[in-house]
Parts: sequence; structure tokens; C-alpha cells
Amino acid sequence: MKFTYVTLFENLISPYFEDSILKRAIEKDLLSIEFYNPRDYTTNKHNKVDDYQAGGGAGLLLNAQPLFDTLKEIKKRDPKAHFVFPAPAGKAFVQADAKRLASKEHIVFVNGRYEGIDERVVETYADEIFSIGDYVLTGGELASCVMSDAISRNVSGVLGNVDSLSEESFEEKLLEAPSFTKPAVFQNKSVPSEFLKGNHAKIANLKNKMAKLKTKYFRPDLYARSCAE
Ligand code: ADE
Repeated sequence: MKFTYVTLFENLISPYFEDSILKRAIEKDLLSIEFYNPRDYTTNKHNKVDDYQAGGGAGLLLNAQPLFDTLKEIKKRDPKAHFVFPAPAGKAFVQADAKRLASKEHIVFVNGRYEGIDERVVETYADEIFSIGDYVLTGGELASCVMSDAISRNVSGVLGNVDSLSEESFEEKLLEAPSFTKPAVFQNKSVPSEFLKGNHAKIANLKNKMAKLKTKYFRPDLYARSCAE
């Protein structure tokens, strides 16, 4: 899996891959990352990448030309690359998207700054537009990191323990059951006694009940959907 980031601010993204699971994925050649800076594709003499909005409106937009030429170059090098634009106006990015996109060979994240991106670039290149939540970030970089992380952990070999994937939240349309480690009693609170008895069928049954209760409490919307199915 290759991730390409189109961004004016590589340093907002690259440190995320310098530790832990994603660092190991890169070392194991399961993942590679690269960066393109639209400033390198400007044709004006001051390398300007932003401009006022046509027709007025608050804030600056990323100019069409440098971004367009950057994406053109990426597409020329890999016509099969899948272009993802993070934007608050996109559809909600969910676990099913993370799983589906994990089978792509090459994803290009096109990160807007300022007030966004000239719509003609979006129309020409966007395969998908995603929002990571109903709030506005200062740019797409953080959203790209969030999506890259969620996608990567579904790439075969990235997670040490494959069971982590099947047992986790959203897998059965429910949140994951609470989990515990040692000691059995901590701060006067006990691990549920069934967890300590070693009967795996009973533990699975209890976990399923807890998952349902947790989902009903924290995410009534998800719970209602899981009951309806
Ligand atoms: N860019 C700015 N805000 C965003 C959001 N909520 N999701 C994705 N990209 C964004």
C-alpha cells in the first residue's frame, strides 16, 4: 500500500509514521509514503499557491493551477491511483471505508488548507470526498492521518494480531466490550469474575452482552441500527 500526500505542510504528516505500528509497517515494506508540494508546481514568480475567492467570500483558497498540475503529474505516473479529498463537506468516513480502501494499491490524499480547494480541481480529480466529523479543521492533513491510520491497520500484516481486527468496535455494528488487564482488583474495582474463570464460551457471551449495553448507552444510533438488521 502506498500513500501519497499532496500538502504544503509535509511536517504535519510525516512524524505520524515515525513511531509504533505504522513505522514498523514501513520497515516491513507493507506501507510506503511520499509527499508532493503544490508549491513546487507553481508557474508564478513568487510561488504563490493561494488566492482570494472568485465572487468574494471569507478566506483564501488553494489556487487551481499548482494543485491541478501536481495531481496531473501523480496521475501520469500512476493512472490507477485513487484520489481522496478530505473536506468537511464530504461523506462521513467510517470503518467500512477503511476496510474497502485497504485493498487499494495507491491512495493519494489531497489536502486543502485555508478555506479549501478550487472546485474545478475537486471535480476533475476526486474519486471520493470524506469528512472525519462535523467540525472544521485548519486543513486536511489531520484528517488524512486519521484515514491513513484506519486504512493501514486493515492492510494484511500491519497488525501483529489479526484477531484485533475481528473483535473490535464496529465489526458487528456494536462498540467493543470493555476490556481489562492484571491485576484482578485495582483501585477497589474488580475484573468481571467470569473473565477469570477461563470458560471461553461464557466469556464471549458476557462480552457480547456488555458490548450491547455499552453501545445502547454511548451510541443509541448504532444500537438502533444493529437491532433493525
Ligand atoms: N478539512 C477540514 N475539516 C475537515 C473535516 N472535518 N474532515 C475532513 N477534512 C477536513
